[in-house]
Amino acid sequence: MPRQGQGSLLTAVRPFPLTALRHPVVSALLDDHRALLSDLLDGLGSPLHIVLPEVFEENIAGLRQAFTETGADVDIFFAKKANKAGCFVSSAAALDAGIDAASAPELVKALAGGVPGHRIGVSGPEKDDALHSLAVRHNCLVAVDSISELRRLAATARLADRRVRVVLRSRTSGQPGSRFGMAAAERDAAVGLCLDLSDHVRFQGFSFHLNGYSPEERATAANEMIEHCLDARRRGALSAEVVDIGGGLPMRYVEPRLWDEFLQQNELAHYHGTKAAKGFSFYPYGGQPTAEAARTLMNHPVEGNESLSAKAARNGIRFIVEPGRSMLDQAGFTVYRAQQVDDRRDTDGYAIVTVAGNSLSLSEPWFNTDYLPDPALLSAEPGADEVFPACVAGSTCLENDMVTWRKIGFPRPVRPGDLLVYLNTAGYHMDFLESQFHDAPLPRKAVLRLGDGDAPPRWRLDGI
Ligand SMILES: Cc1ncc(COP(=O)(O)O)c(C=O)c1O
Repeated sequence: MPRQGQGSLLTAVRPFPLTALRHPVVSALLDDHRALLSDLLDGLGSPLHIVLPEVFEENIAGLRQAFTETGADVDIFFAKKANKAGCFVSSAAALDAGIDAASAPELVKALAGGVPGHRIGVSGPEKDDALHSLAVRHNCLVAVDSISELRRLAATARLADRRVRVVLRSRTSGQPGSRFGMAAAERDAAVGLCLDLSDHVRFQGFSFHLNGYSPEERATAANEMIEHCLDARRRGALSAEVVDIGGGLPMRYVEPRLWDEFLQQNELAHYHGTKAAKGFSFYPYGGQPTAEAARTLMNHPVEGNESLSAKAARNGIRFIVEPGRSMLDQAGFTVYRAQQVDDRRDTDGYAIVTVAGNSLSLSEPWFNTDYLPDPALLSAEPGADEVFPACVAGSTCLENDMVTWRKIGFPRPVRPGDLLVYLNTAGYHMDFLESQFHDAPLPRKAVLRLGDGDAPPRWRLDGI
């Protein structure tokens, strides 16, 4: 690899434009309400997460519609882990969507946000007794991961003199090595135990964990769960009628053509430092739109020509889906204030923009990369049109605190005071890794709704 700073590299590096898609609500805010965004940043600090419940609500409605079109009976439980903002829980409650909670605090916040217990699913491996106890008392649906968890949960239900609703998490034949769920023998034993413990356990069906975003693989796994329900019914578990297909619906951050081109052109020289040398592994940002994937999933043939939805209907099976990321598609963005610009274009071919805040406020936690879609530049003053290659650094003392390692081709030189807007960050990018390093406060979340007609957007702090 050529050394950075050599003349040959200066001509070689042209930042690849990975333009992020924008919802009309986002475009309206960035195009027509820059002063408001800048004021909010002045008042609430940089970075600031903007969350947009009206887009979340549109996503829930769109997914419901897509499933309805396939004839499938599907209940949506929003996976709360994807964003801590309370506004999304309130929106879910208002739309009668459920919540997938994976910890006691998540469950409590779902209840506090107005979601009744029977609309809450509790998932996660070997949940602790405190979470079990809350779930039992509030009549939540618990996805049980192992026999030992089933025994503990049943004991909790017995103590509370309740009957807890349960699905059993089963391993799939496609991913038999997963650390989640029960393999065949344990699953069979768990069904038997549910029958034995039926005074305190109401067995309802199966769930599964599947890595990846393929609707076809998810349909195949869901079909296996239908078969497990039918087996369980043959053993006397007549209430086995639920298949929980989990999350993992894809979404689209950038146009697929652009994404494919990016993958073909991507190389080490496009990045600052050595981060990229560890190897590239990216979230599939050019994925299938969520509603389309939902239709692919339910229309997928699983028995001869029979689709998943048709087979489920024929057998009296209803689905639960637990989308997190995809329900937050376009439902928020993150704004940093540029604090300093180290213009190294003459020596290294690109600049380093240091922003107020750090990189942990914008996480892409599961993949060996940064959050790739280009941030938008909102300049404080007009500037000449000229591609300005720069990567983006956090203002901590860590060499590796880079918000964007990839060199971005900004449309104008970035100046201190400008705003960098990272688009579509609501799904996992906001609070998954947030940190109070350097005693910094955690970034705030401002809830914004566009006003009707000429009315200005309304905003409030989340949680208030
Ligand atoms: C049990 C369960 N449900 C739902 C989800 C949400 O997945 P996604 O955000 O990909 O939709 C996850 C993700 O970890 C999960 O483990």
